[in-house]
Amino acid sequence: MLTGKIIGLGSYLPPKILTNDDLSKIVDTNDEWITERTGIKRRHIADAVEDKASTMACKAALAAIEDAGISGSEIDLIVAASTTPDVVFPSIACCVQGAVGADGCACFDVNSACPGFIAAYNTAQSYIESGNAKTVLVLGAECLTNFVDWEDRGTCILFGDGAGAAVLRAEEGMKNSFIMKASMNRGACLHCEAMKQPKRVDEEGFLKSTFMYMQGREVFRFVVTEVPALIDELSKKYEFDLGEVDHFVFHQANRRIIEATAKKLGVSLEKFPMNIQDTGNTSSASIPILLTQMKKEGKLKKGDKIVMSSFGGGLTWGANYFEY
Ligand code: UT7
Repeated sequence: MLTGKIIGLGSYLPPKILTNDDLSKIVDTNDEWITERTGIKRRHIADAVEDKASTMACKAALAAIEDAGISGSEIDLIVAASTTPDVVFPSIACCVQGAVGADGCACFDVNSACPGFIAAYNTAQSYIESGNAKTVLVLGAECLTNFVDWEDRGTCILFGDGAGAAVLRAEEGMKNSFIMKASMNRGACLHCEAMKQPKRVDEEGFLKSTFMYMQGREVFRFVVTEVPALIDELSKKYEFDLGEVDHFVFHQANRRIIEATAKKLGVSLEKFPMNIQDTGNTSSASIPILLTQMKKEGKLKKGDKIVMSSFGGGLTWGANYFEY
């Protein structure tokens, strides 16, 4: 059957780096605590003027298109994921369209918090597998540091900025299989309720609601319970053995989450690539940034079987299984 194969990958990470030692000068924390509890050593921080979710998306998109060796005019759909867009409209996808010379193609954004890239990827695959698109650009782009409370040591140490992109092209191959879930009933532990509005800053509690709020322990428990169960469900529903999977490309949120998931699934940690030490949690951008790095390091081979999985605000969680 026709399915989308990844033919190009690209990413953009802003040059400014914030180390754990830098953070210890802002909040009461230290390198040892952050490294031990999260695996993070440093993260990239957007420049307040140069870098926005949309501009970072454009840079990642251009890199992915160059890697694919195609021209922008060959693209017939762009789907961008972001929870932290700098534009209300046009969409980030439209901004990217302008930058890559894909005039006339369909463009829209999705917001599914951290699993946004998987939601965008599955949407792109559904367009391709139903014969509605041949070449699709899929993105995740985030500027989370704009929404972080720099006085809250429980959250500000986790996040970084960046963007990643993949070009998919219709080819004969194995179908993309996926399951996506959400549970608003359990969403109170992770949210960002309001966008900043100049005239509402004086309203009681308004400014606070523009920051990300997270009960880390609650989120941690949710993830290490639901994500292994979801991957088990995925493998049963689509009849594959976890032993056949070459790479478990997971949202980079916390090294301990990945270790706990690998253990629960009974899969070697070696099959879980990680770059969280250098990027922190970049929400919907984390998976395409990691895929790009894997490709550059020669770790992706045509035919490799991949499970991607992510989780975040909503609460939302999802996973898919496909052939590279
Ligand atoms: O993208 C998806 C969304 N988010 C996530 O996936 C996050 C999931 N959760 C986590 O990653 C972890 O829960 C955290 C890394 C956020 C926190 O780690 P934890 O092991 O769950 O720590 P905790 O919140 O239970 O806090 C343990 C202690 C507390 O002190 P007491 O009460 O034991 O005295 C905290 O106040 O660590 C303290 N603490 C810190 N200490 C130094 C919390 N943050 C820090 C910090 N530096 N940055």
